[in-house]
Amino acid sequence: MDVLDLLVRNTSEVLTVEGSHRERAEDALTPRPGAVVGVREGRIAYVGPEAGLPTGAVGPGTEVVDAQGGFVGPGFVDPHTHLVFAGERSAEFDLRNQGATYLEIAKAGGGIAGTVRATRAASEEELVRLALPRTKRLLEQGVTTAEVKSGYGLDLATELKMLRAVRRLGTLTPLELVPTLLCAHAVPEEYRGKREDYVRLCIEEILPAVAREGLARFCDVFVEDSAFTVDEARRILSAGRALGMVPRLHADQLTACGASELAAELGAATADHLEQVTDAGLKALADANVTAVLVPTSTLFLRMRPYAPGRRIRDAGLNVALGTNVNPGSAMSENTALALGLACLENGLTAAEAYWGATRGAAMSLGLQRHGRLTVGDAGDLVVFSCASYRHLPYHLGVAHARVVVKAGRIAVRQQMESCA
Ligand code: NIG
Repeated sequence: MDVLDLLVRNTSEVLTVEGSHRERAEDALTPRPGAVVGVREGRIAYVGPEAGLPTGAVGPGTEVVDAQGGFVGPGFVDPHTHLVFAGERSAEFDLRNQGATYLEIAKAGGGIAGTVRATRAASEEELVRLALPRTKRLLEQGVTTAEVKSGYGLDLATELKMLRAVRRLGTLTPLELVPTLLCAHAVPEEYRGKREDYVRLCIEEILPAVAREGLARFCDVFVEDSAFTVDEARRILSAGRALGMVPRLHADQLTACGASELAAELGAATADHLEQVTDAGLKALADANVTAVLVPTSTLFLRMRPYAPGRRIRDAGLNVALGTNVNPGSAMSENTALALGLACLENGLTAAEAYWGATRGAAMSLGLQRHGRLTVGDAGDLVVFSCASYRHLPYHLGVAHARVVVKAGRIAVRQQMESCA
């Protein structure tokens, strides 16, 4: 065997997460007690007992990381973020805590529209500068790949600016970014009373321009009474698909509006949110093998009930992914540990199911075959935690335990941390 670039040893266990969402999550995590992990040329090259390392695997150039009895797992994959934006909405947070609702604030000209105004006014460089610390906070949680949506431009120039900012950001951070076009996030203020014109702008100008520059892998629509109808979403997402962008949907968040059924009809990669999903919607998603993306931090942050029925979704056989949904309006939090905790406390997942959702489940939702898993040949993205078991992550609510974060075989984060549990 060639010399490893990096070796992680002295682990409690390594979770290779090589099973399937159709089996018990505890089994799918595939724990390897006391294993070591070797990385070479950015890929996993060895997982197994230290005694089984081939001669010559460790040389003077091998960086040896002592896990100090912590567990090791794949880098987290965040399947739903709105990382790039300008401005902030802490006043709305206060208003909601006094009883105002997300929709009331939006109707009064705040909400997404407020972030759109700030984002339109910012330069591409400014958007990158503002987003960079957010990528750092995600990395510190152990996230090594994140999907990023546009959607605070809502015009051709600003949607392009946002996605170019995502592309530039990806060259400045170790965090790997997967871009999604969300021009149908809201009908912009200047199109009030002319929504059909905006839908046409999306289909005829924004989607083709984004496709020409190769700026997005996915396209997304916020399907909601207050945003886009099922028919409008069908047209936009079908146009996106024809241009090579795979559909994802903001589905059944505030009302049950047929979005899950549409996700199934379109064979979308994901239906995200699902707080209000109906039994019929759930069955449609399961039959069409659509991944459910849970974002419980938003449900908490908006003080809404119910949480998405994660238990029923998982029991229906869906792949369940878990994201932070970091954004300035409904989830101003890069805290993956909190999302894991809420997925257990409020969505009804087990710790293993939540962990699956933030690793392999999320990678699958983004079509990333070699992410969120630690088998030979997979991406060399891994996290050395300061605790001995993944069960500690949701339990120690909202506290990050990522001691060393490795992206593509290189150490991206190293944090001083006492060992825990
Ligand atoms: O996923 N629901 C729509 N979009 C975001 C919130 C965006 C915002 O309020 O700025 C979400 O929760």
